[in-house]
Amino acid sequence: MQKLTYKNYAAMSRAAADIVVATVKAKPNTVLGLPTGSTPIGLYAELVKDYKAGKVDFSKVTTFNLDEYVGLDVKHEQSYRRFMQEQLFDHININPSNTHIPSGTAKDLNKAAKEFEVKLKESGGVDLFVLGIGTNGHIGFNEPAAGMPAYTHVVGLAEETIKVNADKFFGGDMEAVPKTAVSMGLATIMQAKKIILLSSGESKNDAIAKIESEILTLDCPGTVLHMHRDVTLLVS
Ligand code: GLP
Repeated sequence: MQKLTYKNYAAMSRAAADIVVATVKAKPNTVLGLPTGSTPIGLYAELVKDYKAGKVDFSKVTTFNLDEYVGLDVKHEQSYRRFMQEQLFDHININPSNTHIPSGTAKDLNKAAKEFEVKLKESGGVDLFVLGIGTNGHIGFNEPAAGMPAYTHVVGLAEETIKVNADKFFGGDMEAVPKTAVSMGLATIMQAKKIILLSSGESKNDAIAKIESEILTLDCPGTVLHMHRDVTLLVS
């Protein structure tokens, strides 16, 4: 595992964009794994800028997002589908049918999760996965637990995650935050060829310190990234 430290959020976002752009240039039909949350907003803004400046072509790119809230319609202002449309997809030349986000509204969520895994496999697998990290060390919505499903699954959110996301995105209203989500599993994520994890701000110090301690524990799901051979932490 490699760690790169940046002087501020803007520099980290730019560096992450450079990695994504270089990957897409080297392989125009790149499959990207993508996160939501506040951390990747700067990265997505940089990618939109690069696209508008003619520096990158997303027409052959495919994307798979990590997670989605259960029960929020895709048009809901806090759904991760809407987030991705507003932050990135609506502003670049990606083919909408190449963008995949787990369904949080399917009648049979488990069946939809399995179908999502099949689509991911059929795509050839993720070339570059961009991750964020929760204050409790979660990646995707894989919350600290003694055990967890390996692949895309329905998951209950930790109290801490509900609180953090309520404050950041739901005007502090914990009741408004869905209590369950659909998330790729750690094994889904670990199958990516290359992983970069973005972390910004002091609230993540504890999670990053646990990863850097090199002790593997599902109490901090991010620590399992040590089992992958090509992971870079981008920290600011
Ligand atoms: C969210 C998402 C994660 C994200 C993390 C950190 O709840 N499910 O994929 O990486 O929490 O979010 P933020 O970037 O807002 O700190």
